[in-house]
Amino acid sequence: MRVLVIYASADGSTAGIAERIAERLRHRGHHASLHPVGEAGSVEGADAVVLGSAVHARRWLDEATAFVDTHHLELRDRPLWTFSVGMPDALPRWARRLARREEEAVMVQLGDLRPVSHRLFSGVVAPGQFPPASRLFLRLTGARYGDFRDWASIEAWADEIAERLDDTAGEAADRARRGDLRL
Ligand SMILES: Cc1cc2nc3c(=O)[nH]c(=O)nc-3n(C[C@H](O)[C@H](O)[C@H](O)COP(=O)(O)O)c2cc1C
Repeated sequence: MRVLVIYASADGSTAGIAERIAERLRHRGHHASLHPVGEAGSVEGADAVVLGSAVHARRWLDEATAFVDTHHLELRDRPLWTFSVGMPDALPRWARRLARREEEAVMVQLGDLRPVSHRLFSGVVAPGQFPPASRLFLRLTGARYGDFRDWASIEAWADEIAERLDDTAGEAADRARRGDLRL
């Protein structure tokens, strides 16, 4: 099936995750194309969309929410998978529950879109990304820096998407066959 994998990334780690998802979908036999959100254009013509954004200040990046607003109807009309990239695994255990509340806030940004599934992944967290006050805050909360991308769980999610697309394609083929028989 034709799948658009669209992402908004400030520092590159969401782009890497989107790229891995697209590669995995291709490996599973789907036609997946990869686009930064600013270059994605229309989603008409796609059978399904995977849309992800880095999280800054508990929100998807502005270009991602602008894309959702502009293409709302097209996104509502086709299977949609969404993911956020934040820093839960960089945080101490006690602070990770905050990530769940952030995800609720992200879902509010999606309005009445109902993704088939939504995931929060951890990305790359580097001191150079943050202003001094945020670095101090992160140090005080016990946050760590590093590349926290969990490629196994990213690939497992992409495989789930591929399986669901396989099912959808199979059902469409069955419907077409039944239609042929009626003719
Ligand atoms: C200015 C700034 C604000 C951030 N705010 C959040 C946040 O509110 N919640 C969160 O989980 N991660 C936050 N992060 C961490 C990023 O989401 C994380 O580094 C992610 O990997 C960034 O993805 P990117 O490399 O695609 O831009 C923030 C990072 C920056 C630089």
